[in-house]
This record gives sequence, structure tokens and C-alpha cells, in this order.
Amino acid sequence: MDRLTEEQALALGMARSFAAERLKPVAAALDRDASWPRAQLAGLAELGFMGMTVPEADGGAGFDPLTYALVIEALATGCASTAVIVSVNNSLVCEPIAKFGTDVQKRAWLPLLATGQRLGCFGLTEPSSGSDAAHMDTCAKRDGAGWRISGSKNWITNGPHADVMVLLAATQKQLGPKGVSAFLVPMDAPGVSRDRHDEKLGIHAAHSCTISFDEVSLGSDALLGAEGQGFKIAMATLDSGRIGIAAQAIGIAQAAFDAAFAYSQQRKAFGSLIKDKQAVQFMFADMATELRAARLLVAQAASAKERGGRYTREAAQAKLFASEMATRVTHRALQVFGGYGYSTEYPAERHYRDARITEIYEGTSEIMRLVVAGQMLKDAASLSAT
Ligand code: CAA
Repeated sequence: MDRLTEEQALALGMARSFAAERLKPVAAALDRDASWPRAQLAGLAELGFMGMTVPEADGGAGFDPLTYALVIEALATGCASTAVIVSVNNSLVCEPIAKFGTDVQKRAWLPLLATGQRLGCFGLTEPSSGSDAAHMDTCAKRDGAGWRISGSKNWITNGPHADVMVLLAATQKQLGPKGVSAFLVPMDAPGVSRDRHDEKLGIHAAHSCTISFDEVSLGSDALLGAEGQGFKIAMATLDSGRIGIAAQAIGIAQAAFDAAFAYSQQRKAFGSLIKDKQAVQFMFADMATELRAARLLVAQAASAKERGGRYTREAAQAKLFASEMATRVTHRALQVFGGYGYSTEYPAERHYRDARITEIYEGTSEIMRLVVAGQMLKDAASLSAT
């Protein structure tokens, strides 16, 4: 990336070193054993990377959106699982608390989340509502001055280890999106239970699980933002989260590219190194071009976020392209390895599996297309009205 500030270059340098020295050497073992990267997360907390989106005044690193994306990308080159754990804590938990929380909520959670003493998760998806996020069954009913919550959330990344959840629940189900509110739920509240962590195709070390709420009693101070604003809070939060997932996808694709590129310099076929075969060179040219295009979209989304106002379309376009690019690049990278790519002896198969989720979580590619088209139609309508 051209023209980074001194601070951006410093953060990126630290993330790259951490990825090379502390993540890449253990990523295959973490994946094989589905081990939670506890020691690695402690190291990342020391660098301030658990609180990149938290303002310095609230105990965080206060990174700008581009620095944040660059760090997530760099971490994902080392370990895709670790990158998403960090991304969820930052984008989906710290950021909405910093943006919509009261002073008391910020003081209670941000310094601890930013320093890795606590971990957060985000509860939107339910067993019967994923893409149609507004139509949730989990409900929060008034209970004296507080709230009583019942329902369940699934595929909750960080769920098995989290101390707090940003939870979306229907406070007036008949109102659809306008009847959704956001809550901060301590995971040790009576009535909260977690299932065993999910078994998945990839990102094995990033544990997720189903979390159930059985008449969980919360005080009035658990409400995050205003009643009925929860859906907008969730959507605005996901705008930011999607930049993080796009960056994660680029990191995974870059790791796959690097592994295949190195392999092509040593593997011979038909009497010469495969790097000299035009068929292989074309694959690398396409991969490198797509990687660069995805980086530019992420940088543009990050700068739209930095400018302020809505950046929904930019974030969706970055995630849409970067995640589908990662699927294509990891597919080609595996192909460069031939049969060895299919073996767990090399990292190509792990990158291929890890990339796939980026097209699904924090909004599927189909939802990204709907969001982009919806914003284009809205812009066109407002232009024709003026
Ligand atoms: N920012 C602010 N407000 C927004 C917004 C945004 N990005 N997007 C929508 N809104 C507002 C709209 O303006 C509208 O408000 P008004 O009525 O006042 O105009 C309101 O929210 C409702 O919007 P829509 O009518 O567009 O809502 P919808 O029900 O049609 O849903 C959707 C839109 C885009 C399909 C949405 O449901 C969506 O994004 N679905 C995907 C959900 C998703 O990404 N899930 C991922 C789960 S989290 C996860 O994966 C985390 C993990 O563990 C890694």
C-alpha cells in the first residue's frame, strides 16, 4: 500500500512480524486440533490489537479504519482464525459500544475488551433467521425497570469464550426492523447457556457456538442505544465488520498466493520449473491483479468510513469482491500445487477451506449484492427527485 503514515506503517510492521513469527508457524496445528489461540490472543492484546477500534480516551489504540484493515489483513496471512476473533472483538463489539454506549457502559467494558482481559461476541443470527436478520425470535420483554430475554443465537464467533455479547432482540416483534433493540449481555448472567463449539469446514481455531437465553434478567442499563434502534445499530456495525472480513479474505488469499508462488520456484515438471510455464504465470498474474483490486476496494471503503456518514455500499462492495476473490485465488493456488495442494502436508487446502466462510459470514455475497443494488437504486431515486 502506498503512502502510509508513520503510525500506519508501524502498526502494519508489528502485525506482519506477529503473523510471521507467532501465527504462521502454529496455524496448521491450531487448525488441525481446533485449538483456541489463547497465547496468540494474549500477545495481540499486548500490542493493542484487541482494541484497535476503541478510542484512546476509552483505553484503546484508536486506529483509523485503514490501519485497522491493514492489521487484520496481515494477521490473516498468518492465521485466518485468529484474524476473525480479533475482527469480531473490534468491529462487532467494541465499535458499537464506543459509538452507541453510555459513559457507564463504555467504562465498564471498553478498557477490559481493548486490553484482552475480556472478549466479546455479537448475537444477531438465529437458527431460523440468518440473512433475514430483522425477523428474529429472540425477544426482550420489559420486566419492571429492566428486561427479560429469551431465545437463542447461533454461529456466534467467539461465543464459547466471550464475556459479553452485543445482542439483538425483538422488543416489539410486530414492528419488524423498527422493533429490534440492542443489549449488552454479560455471558455469566443466570439463564445464559452455551452449546459445544461448532464443527466447521474451516477457521477451526475460531470457535463459534449456539447460545441460549432462558428468561435472562437484565437491568435497564443493559440497553445499548435507544429502544427500537437495534436493527440500525446492527447494520451500521456490520458495515464496519464487512471491511474487516474483506481484509481477512485478502490476507487468506495473499497467504495462498505466497505459498503457491514459492512452490512454483522449486517444483519441476516436463524438464523445467513450473514458474516458467505460461499456464502457471497466467494464474499468478490473475491472482496478483485480483488481490490488488480487492485491496483498493478495502482502502476506498476505509477512507469512506473515515470521512464519516454512511459507507454501506463501499463496505459491501469490498466484502463482495474480496471474499469471492479469495475463493478464486485459493482455488488457483491449490491448483498450482497439484496433488500436493490437496494434502494437509501443505497449507493450500487450509487456505482454500478458510476462504470459503468469508463469502458467508457478516452477510452472504447474495446479501452484499442486494445491499449494493439497493444503495444504487436509492441514489438514482434521490438524483431524479432533485
Ligand atoms: N446503516 C444504518 N441503517 C441501516 C443500514 C445501515 N447499513 N442498513 C439498513 N438500515 C436501516 C434502513 O435505512 C431502514 O431504516 P428506515 O426504515 O428508517 O429507512 C432499516 O434499517 C431497515 O432496513 P431494510 O428495509 O433495508 O431492512 P431489511 O429487513 O430489508 O434487511 C438486509 C436488509 C440488508 C437484508 C439485512 O437484513 C442484512 O444485512 N442481512 C444480513 C445479516 C448479516 O449480515 N448477518 C451476519 C451475522 S453476524 C456474523 O456473521 C458475525 C460473526 O459471527 C462473524
